[in-house]
Amino acid sequence: MSLVELAIKKMQAAARGASDAPVPQPPAADRPRTVPLAEPAPVVARLAPGVVGEMVSTGVHRALGSQPVEHRTDKMLLVDRRALRAAGLMPPENQERALADQYRHIKRPLIAAATGRGGQRLDRGQLIMMASAMPGEGKTFTSINLALSMALEKDISVLLVDADVPKPHISRTFGVESELGLLDVLRDRKTTVESVIIPTDVPNLSILPAGVRSDTATELLASHRMEETVNHLATANPRRVVVIDSPPLLLTSESRALAHWVGQIVLVIRAGFTPQQAVMDAIAFLGENKSIGLILNQSNTATPGYYYGYGDATTVPSP
Ligand SMILES: Nc1ncnc2c1ncn2[C@@H]1O[C@H](COP(=O)(O)OP(=O)(O)OP(=O)(O)O)[C@@H](O)[C@H]1O
Ligand SMILES: [Mg+2]
Repeated sequence: MSLVELAIKKMQAAARGASDAPVPQPPAADRPRTVPLAEPAPVVARLAPGVVGEMVSTGVHRALGSQPVEHRTDKMLLVDRRALRAAGLMPPENQERALADQYRHIKRPLIAAATGRGGQRLDRGQLIMMASAMPGEGKTFTSINLALSMALEKDISVLLVDADVPKPHISRTFGVESELGLLDVLRDRKTTVESVIIPTDVPNLSILPAGVRSDTATELLASHRMEETVNHLATANPRRVVVIDSPPLLLTSESRALAHWVGQIVLVIRAGFTPQQAVMDAIAFLGENKSIGLILNQSNTATPGYYYGYGDATTVPSP
């Protein structure tokens, strides 16, 4: 039995155990209070349904080192966690603590391989792609929650990249779908990647939108310009960890083009949904010598409660 099959079996066994267990509740002191009158009105009230962010002008241009200061660097994205919850992209408050613990467990080996802190640093290990065999397995949910969890770390700055260019869920959800982004950088050499990165009000978290759609997205993602861009993202800022949301592997060519460039891949597997063969096929697409971590994601659509299992991030041979 291959390492992958062993990891999947281990996670399935763990998931079976976890689904029988009661969902942990936070202590009473941490449960949501009744809303005091002084509490500021949530941004969600002013946003379109399903949108969780609002662009504001800070009036201050960020310094970009030697990069030219460009038009949108004085903007900031306000992230509304309540709206994220309402959009189903963050757990409800009473389950946040339990999920946060699971993300702590998941992020540790990824950070070690990205930075060399507490483990061996991988080549381009700062570039971490969320992948899955099929649609709807939880890549976007995992990307957002992992990015938020990593942003809590000292000495790390997290860039959340929407590379799901056919279906830019993150860009749409954060209300930055019409902003320039990754595809514009790849299309136009004059657009620097730093100039289209949007800082957020979450400390240490910024977002790179997908950008204006393209019929040749796969070719752009496989281009020399993409190589320059990923090299820049992996080297320009030693504190930076890049979390990349992507389209499903078995249905799109874009995700395979993306996988070529990254140092770490997290394969999200939805419990009770993804056939084992689909997981094996996805891993075969990713090829040998890739560092692949497996997350068994039991979303609320499968069984009640939230559960993550994690197979050790490891270099797996082709099945
Ligand atoms: N751990 C989880 N707990 C609760 N809900 C989850 C979890 N993971 C995913 N979901 C829910 O499952 C649905 C699909 O998740 P998500 O959009 O992240 O999948 P995806 O892999 O990005 O899909 P696509 O391939 O279409 O982009 C969403 O409604 C999300 O809210
Ligand atoms: Mg998605």
